[in-house]
Amino acid sequence: MKIRIRLAKVRDIPLLSALIAASVRGLQAGDYSAAQLEGALRTVYGVDTQLISDGTYFAAEETESSAVPLLVGCGGWSKRTTLYGGDQFTGREDSLLDPAKDAAKIQAFFVHPAWARRGIGGMILEACESAAWAAGFRRLEMGATLTGVPFYRAKGYVELEAAEVPLEDGLTLPIVRMGKSTLEL
Ligand SMILES: CC(C)(COP(=O)(O)OP(=O)(O)OC[C@H]1O[C@@H](n2cnc3c(N)ncnc32)[C@H](O)[C@@H]1OP(=O)(O)O)[C@@H](O)C(=O)NCCC(=O)NCCS
Repeated sequence: MKIRIRLAKVRDIPLLSALIAASVRGLQAGDYSAAQLEGALRTVYGVDTQLISDGTYFAAEETESSAVPLLVGCGGWSKRTTLYGGDQFTGREDSLLDPAKDAAKIQAFFVHPAWARRGIGGMILEACESAAWAAGFRRLEMGATLTGVPFYRAKGYVELEAAEVPLEDGLTLPIVRMGKSTLEL
């Protein structure tokens, strides 16, 4: 396998949306009910075009196994207040963070189930940490899904607090706010 990490573009959005749905249904089923997953796909998970236009969202492509590069993962970081959520999420806060005192946000990491546990999430996270560092940030945080917790823990993030994202029909999605207080490269 040969993975290339590049910035995501607006024209990737249809493929990114399909990847996100496949990742959620394939990898989160052990942590959430089907109703939670489908509800979260409608109202929370999705492409955040603000990250694409900020140049802070990455696509991972596998370039060896077929003639056309295969989109196998995505993930990004944000210099804005919103902790999570795609374009359709109502709790967005797009004001800019101050690198001197605020933590940049890690957002919207999704790997295709057929390509999980091969280090792709880790490669995207490294790209995000380097870019956030270059922008002056020294702390990072995220709202991690329960599926993401062991991944971020393995990458040096610690659990800060449990939280619940409200979904439709009175359902909620338990997540964990996690952070890394001394970003070192
Ligand atoms: C979280 C996610 C992005 C990780 O991507 P990935 O490419 O599989 O992760 P990596 O292969 O880089 O994993 C690096 C390390 O993290 C840890 N890790 C990752 N997934 C894990 C799991 N399911 N259980 C336990 N540890 C895990 C391991 O230590 C792993 O190293 P190892 O495989 O050598 O043991 C992927 O599981 C995913 O897309 N999940 C569904 C969407 C989601 O919940 N995203 C998180 C949003 S906050």
